Amino acid sequence: MSLAGLRVVVSAGPTYEDLDPVRFIGNRSSGKMGFAVAAAAARRGARTVLIAGPVHLPTPDGVERIDVRSAAQMHDAVLRALPADVYVGAAAVADFTPENIASSKIKKTAGQDALVLRLVRTPDILADVARDARRPRCVVGFAAETDDVAHYARGKLEKKNIDMIAANRVGVAGSGFESDDNALNVYWRENNDAVGERALGPAPKTTLADALMDLIEERLHA
Ligand code: C5P
Repeated sequence: MSLAGLRVVVSAGPTYEDLDPVRFIGNRSSGKMGFAVAAAAARRGARTVLIAGPVHLPTPDGVERIDVRSAAQMHDAVLRALPADVYVGAAAVADFTPENIASSKIKKTAGQDALVLRLVRTPDILADVARDARRPRCVVGFAAETDDVAHYARGKLEKKNIDMIAANRVGVAGSGFESDDNALNVYWRENNDAVGERALGPAPKTTLADALMDLIEERLHA
């Protein structure tokens, strides 16, 4: 029970951005990684709140789950869940959302060969948690990059003012969004502003979640 008495907030899964009453823009995140992180935190005795986008996964034992749909709803739910000691942003949050949601189903008309959608930026939940007055002591992000993973992951530590980032190692067999396995390169800020690094996996997401919680605990005690 190494996290007894601490509060951990985790976001997981995709967000769905509605276009009209029947259509949305989503992504292929399964939520498995974030659910595994929440389960690992609860097993260690943390009071754990899991803010979940639309996924088909059972709630881990001992976890308080709040279901949301859109990036805006996830933003509100995460910020309402503060204060916390740790925030892990494992959700694949939409970067853009339709400027307007049509109140009735968007129709195609005869002769129409294109539809233009205007999308606007969503709030950056991770960055907003990191700049909040109730900022958790340890703010952890995820990064899904295809190129130059180390460079972008390290950049994000600075840009979003976070303590740790777990970058999905692309191109590793069996890893990724819908898989049960993954491989992570984790980077964190040391007290002297150096950047620590550890490669985790390839391994089942449940195993990786425990290894990530080990690193988070080390940072909490550093
Ligand atoms: O900037 P980028 O989307 O690559 O950063 C990924 C990290 O930021 C993930 O931890 C994700 O949960 C978080 N994020 C967020 N809000 C957004 C976009 C990303 O919290 N609107």
